[in-house]
Amino acid sequence: MHDNPSPLTARHSGPLRGRVRVPGDKSISHRALIVGALTVGETRISGLLEGEDVLNTGEAVRALGADVDRAGVGAWRVHGVGVAGFAEPSAPLDFGNSGTGCRLMLGAVAGCPIAASFDGDGSLRKRPMRRVLEPLERMGARTLAANDGRLPLRLAGARDPIPIVYEPPVASAQLKSAVLLAGLAAPGETVVLETEATRDHTEKMLAHFGADVRVEPHGAHGRRITLAGQPELTPRPIIVPADPSSAAFPLVAAAITLGSDLILEGVMLNPLRTGLIDTLTDMGAAIERLGSRLEGGEDVADLRVRGSVLRGVEVPAARAPVMIDEYPILAVAAAFAEGTTVMRGLKELRVKESDRLVGTADMLRVNGATVEIDGDDLIVEGRGRAIGGGFVATHMDHRLAMSALVMGLGSEQPVKIDDGSFIATSFPDFIALMRGLGADIAS
Ligand code: S3P
Repeated sequence: MHDNPSPLTARHSGPLRGRVRVPGDKSISHRALIVGALTVGETRISGLLEGEDVLNTGEAVRALGADVDRAGVGAWRVHGVGVAGFAEPSAPLDFGNSGTGCRLMLGAVAGCPIAASFDGDGSLRKRPMRRVLEPLERMGARTLAANDGRLPLRLAGARDPIPIVYEPPVASAQLKSAVLLAGLAAPGETVVLETEATRDHTEKMLAHFGADVRVEPHGAHGRRITLAGQPELTPRPIIVPADPSSAAFPLVAAAITLGSDLILEGVMLNPLRTGLIDTLTDMGAAIERLGSRLEGGEDVADLRVRGSVLRGVEVPAARAPVMIDEYPILAVAAAFAEGTTVMRGLKELRVKESDRLVGTADMLRVNGATVEIDGDDLIVEGRGRAIGGGFVATHMDHRLAMSALVMGLGSEQPVKIDDGSFIATSFPDFIALMRGLGADIAS
């Protein structure tokens, strides 16, 4: 799918104006397909993100015996096989670029009495899987082969899954979700104790399908999630709201360009996903929430953003779980702000689709910004403007690619990226949407 790199160039552009809707949320889209596949009966999904990551998850659940059909744009139907009902696939499951698809499906397969092989692209093959295999092995799954805890790997699910009490060693919704999905097949209660709360889409969706899920406070910032095993999951329609992590790119592009006035429709504002909006607001961005409402069980609103002068801020480590995917684009905003922005506690960025801590610093540096990595912190000296002119290595990472292009829209000189093809993993229409708002992005 990514045999030929697709270089792109973003040039200084005028204010961004218009009204758009970004695609469906990636996290919810993966979960809709997976939980739908573990339900008996038909789950109808609207607004599904039709990006490569999610389509690969759809292929995986199909290979495991669920029926998955596309009825129209974003409209999908899943005929599930029931909890623990997956059948052994005849070929390796290929998750492409997606850590979320792979790790959640490791959990779902771990609760079934089958073996399956898991693989992915060059980026996913570098990412750590031992962290998720460890709790799944405690639940009775066995890793039959793994290359130093990395893909490709083969997992044998548990015949008699064991419910566990699990304290994730890092704040990760993927780890939490893998354990909860495996716990569906276990008798008794599976408990996850999170020190820092992470996105809660798995818990919410399991409850939506009728599982007994209890969420209680745990410590100062954490949660205790208790799932009663072996529920009968009942199909319910799922409406996928617009992805705040995709909205982040046009949002920042408008925020750094004076004269911009943009409305992003129906953006999901789950409080465990809104760290970027809070941080940009602290920086002085003009962001308004219009028409706040509930859609598919999530808070959504139209976001109006206008260009403003931003100032540097200190972003505490405690905010990382609620904006983990937004640091590359926040770093771009920081370069255009006046003064220093310090982003603390970014260790997890090193194991994303690329080493995003280094990739983000390099992206800014080749475009003339002053940036430093200090331990796990990223420090950007904002000058209210960026020179640009750089050639950015995107390392098979969609978010680095989109961030660099947004940087080019505000910079004095054009910014080029080596490969925009991975943007299709999460935001297939990104270039067309941005051009429609007035952005100059060309191949
Ligand atoms: C995701 C969780 C996060 C995030 C990823 C999506 C999810 O990863 O970076 O893009 O849908 O659960 P971690 O759980 O590894 O932090």
